[in-house]
Amino acid sequence: MTDQAPAQYQGPQRVLSGVQPSGALHLGNYLGALVKFARLQHEMECLFCVVDLHAITVWQEPAALAAQTREIAAAYFAAGVDPAKATVFAQSAVPEHSELAWMFQCVARLGWLDRMTQFKEKSGKHKERSSVGLYTYPVLQAADILVYKATHVPVGEDQKQHLELTRDIAGKFNHDYDAPGFFPLCEPLIQGPGARIMSLRDGAAKMSKSDPSDYSRINLTDDADAIAQKIRKARTDPEPLPETAEGLEGRAEAKNLVGIYAALSGVSEADVLAEFAGQGFGAFKPKLADLAVAQLGPVGERMRGFLADPGEIDRILAAGAAKARELAAPTVAEVKRKVGFWSA
Ligand code: TYM
Repeated sequence: MTDQAPAQYQGPQRVLSGVQPSGALHLGNYLGALVKFARLQHEMECLFCVVDLHAITVWQEPAALAAQTREIAAAYFAAGVDPAKATVFAQSAVPEHSELAWMFQCVARLGWLDRMTQFKEKSGKHKERSSVGLYTYPVLQAADILVYKATHVPVGEDQKQHLELTRDIAGKFNHDYDAPGFFPLCEPLIQGPGARIMSLRDGAAKMSKSDPSDYSRINLTDDADAIAQKIRKARTDPEPLPETAEGLEGRAEAKNLVGIYAALSGVSEADVLAEFAGQGFGAFKPKLADLAVAQLGPVGERMRGFLADPGEIDRILAAGAAKARELAAPTVAEVKRKVGFWSA
């Protein structure tokens, strides 16, 4: 043993992220993930998958799953992801994810998974009735990232703990198999006003596909009337908007709407407050609705356009899977060698 710091990863910078095909995408997914995907494709090599293996950790109708996968791919393209620049594919079409996940299950510790707050939230009161896959879910997520040796992972705030686990798994693998710098310790790309969009009905709960109230979220496929109505009905307080961000403390719903405005218009919260300080929600909400309709309307329209040609989506996904496998297969082969598996 030496007391030297472990060697750093020396490979290329690469981005990997994914979205589950488990329901309609909402504003939180758009601002927390898709907008960043479209931006990053100009800066680094990018891979974006539709994580269908993750989706089946809770029940998905078999007859609907493939269509849901195409829908997420269409949302990527509608948000500006260009398949000529980024590799877009379905996770289940690249078996190396599952293969590496098994090896990582033997690296990750039960105590690490026991701490995962998302499992606690999703399993609810009856965790013994959850699938085993829901529990080991974050290990598969680590495999998604590390099978490509991705260095950067754009996600919303709710994925932070899963990315910390990914770093722990990478570090332990590198250590246990005496392979310093083999896997990178990936950097989460979370920052920005869109990282944690909250429910429109409850400023303490995040905007989520699984919230029973459709008024809690703006779906990417909502039309202009639905978007405007949901913003009009969004919960707020009777106070006018403050001059500074400190004035939003303790006003979760107000803070959320200001954050949404900032993220959609690409300015800071401070800039939004400088413009609207002293105005009440009667004045602010119509401005926010106009902005949301102007930004999201065309995204929904483009999505419908892509979905009108499922054959083209399938061709892109198939080509993406072939490219992804070229990157993933050598990683799994190297891991097998390091673990010491037999090979002829
Ligand atoms: P998923 O499908 O729940 O969400 C997709 C992306 O949307 C972000 N997000 C939000 N961002 C801001 N505000 C919100 N209210 C909000 N809700 C969701 C999520 O953070 C995510 O970035 N485990 C992941 C999928 C995954 C993955 C991966 C991500 C599987 N493997 C590898 C990155 C790398 C998930 O369930 O995302």
